Amino acid sequence: MKTIRDIDVKNKIILMRVDYNVPLKDGKVTDDLRIRASVPTIQMLLEKGAKRVVLISHLGRPEGKRDRKFSLSPVAKVLEKLLKVGLVGFYDLPKQGEQIAIPDSFKVALLQNLRFDSGEEGNSAEFIKNIIDAVGAEVYVQDGFAVVHRAHASTDAVAKFLPVYAGLLVEKEVKNLSKVIDQPEKPVLLIIGGAKVDDKQPLIEKFEKLADNIVVGGKIAADGYKSKSKKIYVAEDFDEDGKGAKLDIGPLSTAKLAGMITDAKMIIWNGLLGYAEDPAYATASTITAEMMGEHLSAETVVCGGDTTGFVENLMKEHPNLSYSLVSTGGGAALEFLLGNKLPGIEAIKA
Ligand code: 3PG
Repeated sequence: MKTIRDIDVKNKIILMRVDYNVPLKDGKVTDDLRIRASVPTIQMLLEKGAKRVVLISHLGRPEGKRDRKFSLSPVAKVLEKLLKVGLVGFYDLPKQGEQIAIPDSFKVALLQNLRFDSGEEGNSAEFIKNIIDAVGAEVYVQDGFAVVHRAHASTDAVAKFLPVYAGLLVEKEVKNLSKVIDQPEKPVLLIIGGAKVDDKQPLIEKFEKLADNIVVGGKIAADGYKSKSKKIYVAEDFDEDGKGAKLDIGPLSTAKLAGMITDAKMIIWNGLLGYAEDPAYATASTITAEMMGEHLSAETVVCGGDTTGFVENLMKEHPNLSYSLVSTGGGAALEFLLGNKLPGIEAIKA
């Protein structure tokens, strides 16, 4: 894969796709993982002498319409604090043929939500060409790992006009997730939780070949998930609330899982093991996160939005915890692990 390490960007204007599809509450960003994850690439480009980095992203699903609740403006404020390169310019998407005049004092600029225009999801070549021309971009960097599974203008059509280079985040995600598939270090343990069995079943099936052990917890197990495979252990006891709702996996199942974590050399975790929003039912997820984060001799990968959010919060309280990868990609990471071809990655290889 071509990465930003391989290019000379001196005095060049870079157009960089990021995934700032972050949760907002009352106009404020509530989880900045994806924003922080983009900083090393922006910094490296500036250190290598880029004239300017213009960032593009989507947020939510405004379906081609301007909708203030999906504005990226709160993200620009967070970026300013994280980057410390002065103000981050924030601009509307250009109209057809329009130039965006960005003053030289703005080393970094962010454009408004790409999905305010239907051209983004429609994979429109004209739409992305218009943006390239409007900002005078000479190099394209793909660092929005979480969106590379979509064939959109900023992941796919863009490759018609500019060579696409991977940013450091895409490089890191691809390197760590590839290891899981191509060089699994045995024993491999897959931990599955969450609520929607249909979302997880393809991963469980794929890992029946790759993994030595698969543990199924979360609502899926509480709802009675069954498997005949000897590799699959479905949680067998649960912590319940007063009304009999099974809200966390119980001590016996957690102890069995803990033993498998200790023995594993590669651990992939997707999906919370209980209703962890309530600390009373976060025990199994907390133990799993702590054991993985302290297991320095294993490759540890955490993926899925709820799971990574949980782990990130725990890391704030326990900065000693460390993982090979806390993936920023929800659907993208899963598709990567399933071995599907991802348009945004293919565009980098093209
Ligand atoms: C995500 O959060 O998974 C990505 O940003 C992709 O968003 P989408 O599912 O709306 O395409």
